[in-house]
Amino acid sequence: MNVVFLAPTYPPEMQQYTRGLAEVGVNVFGVADAPKQSLTPTLKSYMADYLQVPRIMDEDDVMERVTSWLRGRSIDRILCNWEPLQIVAARMRDRFGIPGMTEDQVIGFRDKQIMKERVKAAGLRVPFSQRVRNGKEAKEAAERVGFPLIVKPIAGAGSADTYRCDSMQELDVALAKMRHVTEASVEEFIDGEEFTFDTICVGGQPIYMNVAAYLPKPLIARSNEWLSPVIITVRDLAQPKLQGGIALGKGVLKALQMGDGFTHMEWYLTPKGEAVFGEIGCRPGGAHLVDQMNYTSDVDLFREWARVVCWHSFKADATRKYNAAIVFKRALGQGRISRITGLHDYMARFGDWVVEETLLRPGQHRRNWKQTLISDGHILVRHPDWGTAHKMAFAAATDVTLYAGE
Ligand SMILES: Nc1ncnc2c1ncn2[C@@H]1O[C@H](COP(=O)(O)OP(=O)(O)O)[C@@H](O)[C@H]1O
Ligand SMILES: [Mg+2]
Repeated sequence: MNVVFLAPTYPPEMQQYTRGLAEVGVNVFGVADAPKQSLTPTLKSYMADYLQVPRIMDEDDVMERVTSWLRGRSIDRILCNWEPLQIVAARMRDRFGIPGMTEDQVIGFRDKQIMKERVKAAGLRVPFSQRVRNGKEAKEAAERVGFPLIVKPIAGAGSADTYRCDSMQELDVALAKMRHVTEASVEEFIDGEEFTFDTICVGGQPIYMNVAAYLPKPLIARSNEWLSPVIITVRDLAQPKLQGGIALGKGVLKALQMGDGFTHMEWYLTPKGEAVFGEIGCRPGGAHLVDQMNYTSDVDLFREWARVVCWHSFKADATRKYNAAIVFKRALGQGRISRITGLHDYMARFGDWVVEETLLRPGQHRRNWKQTLISDGHILVRHPDWGTAHKMAFAAATDVTLYAGE
């Protein structure tokens, strides 16, 4: 089987999916903008061939170059797990007549307004929302939506340029910060807890499922530098509290005509117990979420994803053994890390349950916490019992501190 995989180099976990593809016995044809010489020997060893393109975001150029590169080869799949390239991958499938999701199907997972309209048309609960293109339209939409509301880009990511507004004055302030955004969504603010619903699907049917809790909600995590965002996979998916969200998720997959592969959905659980749709991508979650899922069940979903999309089979035993919690740390101060406190004690208390610790060390430069959820490193800890996993995660949040620039 010959498989084209777009962006095998970046983001870093794409190298793991490339490995997965190689391990299930297919020939991988990678396409990215990194020079061939910059690829590690390991990554090269997973690929049958590699095409470097000058501008990976230039869809028409990528289409033309890949088309001439593939001439004379028979291709069975064109795959991509990185959101910005999913449309061009679908356009290639459409052009070459290769099985997989069409451009129209993928648009349902990319354009947040079309997404919500399709989900709503299936009778599922979505926030009331409206697409707007300028300040005047935003204010008119606000009259209809009411306050509090959320204003955010139609094609956003990582909570960038996303604001909660409680009044017309706050909307004015938000709009002034959003001048560079060409299309936005003004929507009803949904109060409640926020979760993920992640799957690997065959023909839109989940063959693997996961739920993770955001503590706190991503928008709050991205608006407050001082806190340490925690995300915990939920071991017990059978608990009543999650059933509304799981049913919603399955309905969304049907409404959007999901095909084969990963999905990553976000949903809200309101104080009244109602599950409300947030957003969905037909790709895996980023920021180590797949690592967390792997630690939850001691599986390798990089490889199982590949097996599913190539051979329609999932072979791992995905029994859920742990709640796997990741805690992202942000240093106090600017510049280079100067010291870390509390880590030694933390490891003495919980080290047996810690599976990864990647905190930056003194001398290393801080990362931009607004641009990467990864921030200044993470601690990943797991436990079979939810309460214990939760306690250990919050101990890492409060008792471990990184300082910078002292
Ligand atoms: N309608 C809403 N009600 C409440 N919170 C919202 C709403 N829309 C977005 N948010 C908050 O903003 C975050 C980012 O919005 P989201 O739609 O997930 O965009 P993205 O993750 O692509 O930036 C969400 O995770 C949530 O915390
Ligand atoms: Mg989101």
